[in-house]
Amino acid sequence: MKVLVAYMSSTGNTKKVAEAIYSEIAAEKEIKPVNEVESLGAYDLSFLGFPTHGYGPDKKTKAMLERLCKDGKKVALFVTHAAPESEPEVVEYVAKFKQAASGADIVGAFDCQGQLAGGIKIIMKISPNKKLRADAKKDNSKGQPDEKRIEKARAFARETMGKMSA
Ligand SMILES: Cc1cc2nc3c(=O)[nH]c(=O)nc-3n(C[C@H](O)[C@H](O)[C@H](O)COP(=O)(O)O)c2cc1C
Repeated sequence: MKVLVAYMSSTGNTKKVAEAIYSEIAAEKEIKPVNEVESLGAYDLSFLGFPTHGYGPDKKTKAMLERLCKDGKKVALFVTHAAPESEPEVVEYVAKFKQAASGADIVGAFDCQGQLAGGIKIIMKISPNKKLRADAKKDNSKGQPDEKRIEKARAFARETMGKMSA
């Protein structure tokens, strides 16, 4: 059994989740930025992680998922977002990632809050877009993912690995 953990991360949140997942895998394993992954062909299971950009995967990420996720390869998705997990729109973000990965056999999905970068928050605050301004105002993502969320990511890794051996 060979497992890949691949991630995209601009400010380190998704990387932190990736490393937590990786630490829980008791099998032959590799971790790397997803842009270094040519194909999932060599892996029995691939954990693929991304930040949410613009209410889902950005264009590049969507294209990457569509390219990698094929032939029913087993994939577990993990996603970070600045919105709180309880925000209804988060379900839609994750659904969009799943849609882009639908050529794979999606064995699990995990998402958690990740701190919004300060520069982005400033841009959102002065945006002409009312929703962006409102989202910046209610942002409570500072310090995320915290230890509680990282433990949930570890539990997700264990649960997903459990499904593989079942
Ligand atoms: C360009 C851009 C767009 C974003 N769009 C959203 C969004 O639509 N919803 C959301 O909850 N967070 C959004 N975020 C916040 C990130 O998804 C979040 O901070 C994430 O944890 C960053 O992960 P990283 O540190 O691995 O890059 C956005 C961030 C950036 C930079």
